[in-house]
Amino acid sequence: MKCRKCGSKASVNMRQHKLALCKDHYLEWIPEQTERFIKKYEMFTHNDKILVAVSGGKDSLALWDILARLGYQADGLYIGLGIDGGFGYSSESHRLAQKFAYERNLKLHIVDVEEQYGQPIPVLADLTHRGVGRPCSVCGLTKRHVMNRIARDLGYAVLATGHNLDDEAAVLFGNTLNWLGDYLLRQSPVLPESPGLARKVKPLCRFYEREMTAYALLRGIDYIYEECPYAVGSKTTYYKELLNQLETERPGAKLTFYLKFLEARQQGLFAEQARAQATLKPCPNCGQPTSAPGLCSFCRLMERAALTITDTAE
Ligand code: AMP
Ligand code: FES
Ligand code: ZN
Ligand code: ZN
Repeated sequence: MKCRKCGSKASVNMRQHKLALCKDHYLEWIPEQTERFIKKYEMFTHNDKILVAVSGGKDSLALWDILARLGYQADGLYIGLGIDGGFGYSSESHRLAQKFAYERNLKLHIVDVEEQYGQPIPVLADLTHRGVGRPCSVCGLTKRHVMNRIARDLGYAVLATGHNLDDEAAVLFGNTLNWLGDYLLRQSPVLPESPGLARKVKPLCRFYEREMTAYALLRGIDYIYEECPYAVGSKTTYYKELLNQLETERPGAKLTFYLKFLEARQQGLFAEQARAQATLKPCPNCGQPTSAPGLCSFCRLMERAALTITDTAE
């Protein structure tokens, strides 16, 4: 297989794009494409201060690397979740995020959940009985809350995450299987700013996971290979496997599934949903918007965790 641009030996073959490239041309192609998506979806400009949420994994570190290479003003945010899994998942990902920032002289903010909210994620999940043994929903809720708070409090114009096409297609598949209109309405490469909520963007949402792995490896980015221990056997992981089977038979199917969804929504497929969506109001405690009548789900979670601790102490 030869590189389409220079004819030398190709390093990456992308059947889904009918495109093979050598290392140098691949490392040029990824940022070019990213820039194209940033412009197409009007994500941000060179004047905006960007906060990149980095987990220590390949996607978010690759995203930070690409944005820095493209000359954007991008700082990082790492959230310490306190997950061990027998191999120090959080401490290792923390170390790698910090190493990445240090070596490139980039600024990294760090928020440790246990320090800030009293307990690490798995304990918060147990205390609140929200997903005992599988803390993913508490974890997702907490990450969204913290990312939003830091972006808002520190005055960033936009919050960027490293979600790739495999992530987005798997979430879309799950939401479609259950026809979750509200979620389908909100699943987007760009979520505009709203009162109390920072603007959110996913610049990598059109790249296949294996394209990001290739990029991270060819750039020599040191990232955590292990997934979060709680992701093993999760529904999302299962949907990713199913979509990969489909992709093997029909290269490009995953991308088509996602892009056709974006197109259908733009043409008004979920317009009714948009009209029906409950109006949001600020949470009386933290100020982030919520559709609940009182406190937002994050503040209710924290209240429940605090109550359980008091109960046990008594
Ligand atoms: P995940 O939900 O683990 O698939 O992660 C999706 C995206 O959320 C990543 O690409 C990161 O941008 C962000 N993210 C995940 N975990 C963390 C973390 N511990 N700290 C900061 N950002 C994170
Ligand atoms: Fe949050 Fe796995 S439970 S990353
Ligand atoms: Zn080439
Ligand atoms: Zn709140």
